[in-house]
Amino acid sequence: MCSIVGCIGVKHSREVVLSGLSRLEYRGYDSAGFACYDEDRKQVLTIRAVGGVADLRLAMQERSYDAQGLIGIGHTRWSTHGAVTEYNAHPVSDCTQRVFIVQNGTLENDAVLRAELAASGHRFSSQTDSELIAHCYEAALQVITEQGKKISRGQLSQMMQNVLHRLQGTYAFILLLEDIPDTLLIARQRLPLCIGFGENVAYVASDILACAGLVERVLFLPDRTYAIVQKDNVQLFAWDGSELAVSIERIAVSWDESGMRGHPHYMLKEIYEQSDVIRTLAYYGPTDVSDLVGRNISLIDETVIRMVGCGASAHAAYLAQPFFENLVSIPSNVFIATDMRERPLFEQAGSWALVLSQSGETADVLESVRLMKERGMCILGITNVVTSALAREADDTLLMRAGVEVAVASTKSVVAHIALLYLLAHEIAYRRHKITHMVKDQAAHNLAQLADVIAQHLVLQKDALLRIAHSLALLPHMFVIGRAVGYAVAREIALKLKEIAYIFAEACPAGELKHGPLALIDADMYVIVCSSIDETAYRKLIINVQQIKSRHGKIVSLVYEGQHELQVLSDDYVIVPVPQDPLLAHVVMISMAQYMIYHTAALLGRSIDKPRNLAKSVTVE
Ligand code: F6R
Repeated sequence: MCSIVGCIGVKHSREVVLSGLSRLEYRGYDSAGFACYDEDRKQVLTIRAVGGVADLRLAMQERSYDAQGLIGIGHTRWSTHGAVTEYNAHPVSDCTQRVFIVQNGTLENDAVLRAELAASGHRFSSQTDSELIAHCYEAALQVITEQGKKISRGQLSQMMQNVLHRLQGTYAFILLLEDIPDTLLIARQRLPLCIGFGENVAYVASDILACAGLVERVLFLPDRTYAIVQKDNVQLFAWDGSELAVSIERIAVSWDESGMRGHPHYMLKEIYEQSDVIRTLAYYGPTDVSDLVGRNISLIDETVIRMVGCGASAHAAYLAQPFFENLVSIPSNVFIATDMRERPLFEQAGSWALVLSQSGETADVLESVRLMKERGMCILGITNVVTSALAREADDTLLMRAGVEVAVASTKSVVAHIALLYLLAHEIAYRRHKITHMVKDQAAHNLAQLADVIAQHLVLQKDALLRIAHSLALLPHMFVIGRAVGYAVAREIALKLKEIAYIFAEACPAGELKHGPLALIDADMYVIVCSSIDETAYRKLIINVQQIKSRHGKIVSLVYEGQHELQVLSDDYVIVPVPQDPLLAHVVMISMAQYMIYHTAALLGRSIDKPRNLAKSVTVE
């Protein structure tokens, strides 16, 4: 899930590559590096640093790295092979220091390759699997150069084929060869790679965002292809070496340079943006959803709703289950994308899966899409990124219209997923004659009112949320409990506490406490209780809370307005307002909890927008 960026034909490739990389830091940020061919010194000069692009810039200053170059490549890393150190940062190189590579991905046969290469005399200067690729090219180049002629395009293509057949795994990479400083060699298997074309300049990147605003003509490399790229020319090849037609798409991608707009972190800005996102979906969503269902009528006849995602997007699916169950009266199942390959798929060909992914680039999600497509299933992608692999590979797509989400922790995209699924459930219910036109139309108004409630109560409940954040920041661990959809809220809260506050939090269905976890309850254990709007569930939740109280556990509740009994039982609580449609009440709770956890993490001085060990877009399996 690293990001790779290359550029050829621009005088100051360094600045172009670095600014592209900083836009892609959502993919990983534990180390960074850059290399370019310096025309004066006639050699490739590399610089690498632990940390993000800002740290790399600092290293450039400190070490007086001044190389610019007409051709450059860069990388930000999310380590898979080898510790986070400068020597494991990319670009990595071969024994002769003439082959430079930046790679995103993982080789599955790295141990075999390493042994083979070592046996033929190669020596390694990093623990990365990417370096092995550089050595494979070194060996291939040696064979060509021994013939003593200038390297031809045919030889380059043959060399690509030969090396690619040695590599097993999922990867995308860019190669810069010191002997051919007007050409980038690139390849992808499973992981994304695109080329943006300008006037006598070509950019290569994991994500088109890297060259947003610079190009409008883009080639998204098909899977298992490689290319020879020059500033004004590209040749694309299939794995077997046959040349493919280059199909260029016209895409205008813009980059929001607006930054944090005065907020200390992107996460806080994005929490505040949720109301606008919901309002936008209240406006455009009904038409988007109605057109989508109109184009895919078979969606209406589904007897079960299947939703697939990872992390917070999977949680959004759990949080949306009640919409389908209450409005359409059909069951809904959530599948964690990471586990799909290990589970048998009983679904019929032609049945739909709703695949949720903010980035649309999550490797596990894309693998599950491919698996389901192999079985003849239809994929509805729900994503925030129109140019993402999910948007391209799905049979149809619903767009979140949420704007770029920069912070690693998903906030506005979670509520956008939920809002879209709320509208979709209404559309399907209406077309199945379960609800009237009036009720369906009301859905957009309910969302607009939800947006107002969230905006107001982030202000009104600020003090209570900050007070609780202060208590949570002192704790080493806690439980988070709820019943039914309250448990879905609990899971998302526990994930966020771990992710950005680095506090161990375990989500548990409230009714399950007595089946084991209750053994851990004593006067030192805090339990966050996510209340239920449903009266029966609420009554049972009260019993569960009593069980904790009688063992001296501490209770912090997110309690809906009017629920006095839970307030009295709690050591501290915050009141969550109930919006016009009580089916959306838990969305308000999620939003308030995000704000509370954000402040917990801020009090602890965590790296909120880029938590340790994580990345925004998880492009490795
Ligand atoms: C948690 C979080 C992650 C993502 C997950 C899936 O706050 O952001 O758990 O939800 O990595 O990402 P997408 O939605 O891009 O597939």
